[in-house]
Amino acid sequence: MAKWGAFLGIMALFVVAEAAEILSLDVIAYEDFVSQDTVALRTLERALLEKGIVGIRGIPGYRENVERFIEAARAFSALPDEMKLRYAPNRAAGDILGYELGAERFQRPDGKWVVDDRKVSYYAFLPNIPENKWPSEVDLQTPFESMGMMMSQVGSAVMEQIGLIGEKTGIYLDRAPRLGRMLHYRKDESGIQDNPFWCGAHFDHGMFTALLPAFYFVEGEQIPEPIEAGLFVKTHRDGVYKKVLADDPDVMLFQVGEFGQLLSNDAIRATEHLVHKAQGRVERFTMALFFDAPMDTVIHSTSVLTEDARYGGSSGEPCVYRDWGNRSFERYLKRSDPLSP
Ligand SMILES: [Fe+2]
Repeated sequence: MAKWGAFLGIMALFVVAEAAEILSLDVIAYEDFVSQDTVALRTLERALLEKGIVGIRGIPGYRENVERFIEAARAFSALPDEMKLRYAPNRAAGDILGYELGAERFQRPDGKWVVDDRKVSYYAFLPNIPENKWPSEVDLQTPFESMGMMMSQVGSAVMEQIGLIGEKTGIYLDRAPRLGRMLHYRKDESGIQDNPFWCGAHFDHGMFTALLPAFYFVEGEQIPEPIEAGLFVKTHRDGVYKKVLADDPDVMLFQVGEFGQLLSNDAIRATEHLVHKAQGRVERFTMALFFDAPMDTVIHSTSVLTEDARYGGSSGEPCVYRDWGNRSFERYLKRSDPLSP
């Protein structure tokens, strides 16, 4: 029976790999973005609107930053678990910073809740705050800060460009730290595809997200991204999940979060996405940077997302970002019984 389960799981993976439509990712040159090239800016805005994801290539110093960060992420991940657990957050006390394994759960289309048990995170706020935890065994802090601040700077410029922050919304990021998240997706050799995803389908709840391309390793050797694995996004135009070919280490990626959709009254839509596991002994490393609004931000959205219970009111009524964030964490954090909603 177990054998059949494994066989069917593998078949399911092949079906996903075979059926996976490839997303043609729009990538604009950083130089064109900075010089406000009209064609490039139109491409960027249309890509976020229709596909929910866009890339910027050629940010000076980016590639070196990415390489240093991935190296540090791998060095930290190679430490013994008991050492890494010294940097675990005290979730019960409301702390989210530091090292964490499999803390989120997602609902599959069949209604079953599954825990992302192979996903390891390391969270820190940027710019650095005293509450951040930094390991003493490995210098994760320097490359994390350097990478995160670069993502913050470019991401803020993109958000200003599309009107999420600045004069149009009256929202400025100087009072809202960004949340950086190192991601290490552990290998899954079980062959049982009860959860075929490293990260289940979801929307990011903040305003905007910057992402690195992912890096894959087998027993310490870097490999290209396996066809069945990686980031998939559901495009807005046709509502189909497509695989994002993000194998260029010189590209920074951007996605829209739910509060961005609320803020823009659906002018831009949040990006639904998932990360599919690779078969066998493959590990995946990347980093995300989440752009939150200042916690006391109040909006009066008319977006369809106001129908979500997390909004806490009807269309046009006020919602405070702090409440939106807290209700989102409540929904997606693992409970003691992971199979109950
Ligand atoms: Fe996400």
